[in-house]
Amino acid sequence: MSEKLPIEFVFNTEFGRDPYAAYSTLRDEGPVHAIDFPPGMDAFLVIGYEHGRQALNDPRLAKGMSRGPARFREFTSTDNPVLAHNMLNSDPPDHTRLRRLVSKAFTPRRTESLRPRIQEITDGLIDAMAAKGHADLLDDFAFPLPIIVICELLGVPAEDRDDFRDWSTSLVSPALDEEQARHRAETNAATRAYFTRLLAERRAEPRDDMVSALVAASDEEELLSEQELLATLTLLLIAGHETTVNLIGNGMLALLTHPDQLQLLRDKPELLPSAIEEFLRYDGPVERATFRFAAEDLEIAGVHIPKGSVVHISLGAVDHDPEAFDAPETLDIARTENRHVAFGHGIHFCLGAPLARLEAQIAFGTLLRRLPGLALACAPSEIAWRQDGSIIRGLRALPVGF
Ligand code: HEM
Repeated sequence: MSEKLPIEFVFNTEFGRDPYAAYSTLRDEGPVHAIDFPPGMDAFLVIGYEHGRQALNDPRLAKGMSRGPARFREFTSTDNPVLAHNMLNSDPPDHTRLRRLVSKAFTPRRTESLRPRIQEITDGLIDAMAAKGHADLLDDFAFPLPIIVICELLGVPAEDRDDFRDWSTSLVSPALDEEQARHRAETNAATRAYFTRLLAERRAEPRDDMVSALVAASDEEELLSEQELLATLTLLLIAGHETTVNLIGNGMLALLTHPDQLQLLRDKPELLPSAIEEFLRYDGPVERATFRFAAEDLEIAGVHIPKGSVVHISLGAVDHDPEAFDAPETLDIARTENRHVAFGHGIHFCLGAPLARLEAQIAFGTLLRRLPGLALACAPSEIAWRQDGSIIRGLRALPVGF
């Protein structure tokens, strides 16, 4: 194992532009590395496929932050009551109970029933972009599509989406300085106030939406507490914001900068499902890392991980491991062996994966069909990546012309 990686390993422009090159260099020194992130804590970064997959599903690596190191709770958002009690930050048995409740809303049938509405929203957004003749594919398309869908599914007014975007970004970014910590505190208060009001409204007048269903599960069956209800809604809103947006953005950039693959997909639209899996692997939205903490002393790839350490599993690095993928730096939309971990692995495997896949298929399929001249409107080198220190990898903007 190399010396402790400095925090700058992940927080610099060069890394932001091409994290996979940095992982590739690091890989020669092994699959697990000590890293100074959060600063001053025992923390490790797992970048190898086998060890990464195992770590994602290792019960000794916990998510339940109430049991985790206090400093890490402050550093991430998990000291925040609107996030602390969601399923992603819980371990069994709480995780099992919370996940089961929400799973009911994400059955394949329920997801599939959203298809016509997703198509309608997609067509509306494309009509508006086509009328202008140019667009920022991120702001004009990739952002609103999943947000409108998740808002409708939950029963949250889509007009409030600009607020949600702001909140989501703040909640998935570590508070590295006072300014970020202050913004985080404001976000906590705003999110809490918003959902408290919404829950009261649905209690008074239930509707046929997920918020009302969860309120009923909480009130009538006592299956989840008020805190958990709030945390679940916040998680779903964030999950619906920060991820599918960047699957569309990162995937579309990959396609537009690989004309041979773009042409192949235009010629063979039946490759769409495997293309989506490849976008997820090649440059997935949660490239940076998802974290666990060690509930006991353990070893990963011969590296001693003391109890209480933070363990980051870099999904992007794992999905570019040449031991698991042939030519991992090549975008190959027809790739068949593609067991990527872009949606995680194990008990926390993404609950929204079927919805994200459906949205992406409709989005990419319709964009390519309806906009035959779709092309980047700037040089690839001018494309800027977000550098807000969040766990999400995404673009600032994606200017396109038709
Ligand atoms: C969990 C990625 C879209 C809801 C996860 C995890 C990942 C992930 C990596 C596991 C994190 C971990 O193990 O620490 C993605 C990606 C998406 C996406 C790449 C889009 C391309 C969605 C959508 C929803 C959603 C649209 C629903 C609205 C969830 C939930 C969990 C989760 C509820 C927690 C599951 C649990 O803890 O059991 N997602 N997600 N995701 N995702 Fe997604």
